[in-house]
Amino acid sequence: MEDLTGRVAVIVGGGSGIGRGIALGLGAEGMRVVVADIDSASAEVVRDEIAAADATATAAQVDGTDRESLGRLAESTVAEHGAVHVLSTNVGVVADRPLDTASETDWEWIIEFNVLSAVRAVDVFLPHLRTSGGSAHVVITASLAALLAPPTVSGIHLGLYTATKHALLGYAECLRGELADEGIGVSLLCPGMVRSNLAATSARHRPARYGGPLPPPPAREPAATLMPPEAVGPVVVRGIKANRLHILTHPASRDLIEARHAALADDFAFFAEV
Ligand SMILES: NC(=O)c1ccc[n+]([C@@H]2O[C@H](COP(=O)([O-])OP(=O)(O)OC[C@H]3O[C@@H](n4cnc5c(N)ncnc54)[C@H](O)[C@@H]3O)[C@@H](O)[C@H]2O)c1
Repeated sequence: MEDLTGRVAVIVGGGSGIGRGIALGLGAEGMRVVVADIDSASAEVVRDEIAAADATATAAQVDGTDRESLGRLAESTVAEHGAVHVLSTNVGVVADRPLDTASETDWEWIIEFNVLSAVRAVDVFLPHLRTSGGSAHVVITASLAALLAPPTVSGIHLGLYTATKHALLGYAECLRGELADEGIGVSLLCPGMVRSNLAATSARHRPARYGGPLPPPPAREPAATLMPPEAVGPVVVRGIKANRLHILTHPASRDLIEARHAALADDFAFFAEV
């Protein structure tokens, strides 16, 4: 999808962090951006940031885990903008639990937020992407944790998170294969560490069905080494235009991926000798 100008993008979870960075980046390309978030005030702030840069944006409230809420978002987008060309899914949570302490409820919460939210958004928006009158694109925000499997990062247990991000890798790659002939591209965004509010929003928006909100995490100064979310948008634009499967924001991680692939090749070599 080479020309984004004047096309319509919906960013689910666009009020903060990576979703905000994508919304700003697509706005800067001249797209009309619908910033949708469970926190409507944050979506409105991002809408105003895009508008201040002379681009067109609207804000909407959505529960990205709820098909009916997503359906209303799709209908209002098409009513207002006439079509949807790009869908970006960003809803996700992190749960700092060693795997041997994770409860059934922990698993259900993280699978619904990290995997099913993307599946539901794609299910709801796909009919509109199909009738968008040209090419369309889906960007599913996963993580480098879709390509690696470190048990902890900075002392945070990532087992549950990593399992769900690996599920997104399989989902996105198969979806891409299924939609290729229709001119609908699919990319998996795999960022490393980006400055965001993920720990706080994970705690704040945990629904009652999973035990309700958690106490807010201790406020910490973000490490200066974290990528600013504004840097993610232009990389995503490049990935959409070139229809790349993986959108990679942290090139320095390549060595880790190569080491993982080398370990896999080594296992093949080991069993080839049997
Ligand atoms: N920050 C990182 O280092 C990092 C790295 C790799 C991947 N990711 C992934 O990026 C995605 C976005 O996370 P972030 O780090 O930008 O966090 P963030 O908290 O800054 O942004 C998440 C946004 O999603 C919204 N949201 C939460 N529940 C929602 C719901 N039910 N419906 C609609 N919106 C909802 C939040 O209000 C928030 O605006 C997640 O999937 C996360 O796993 C983050």
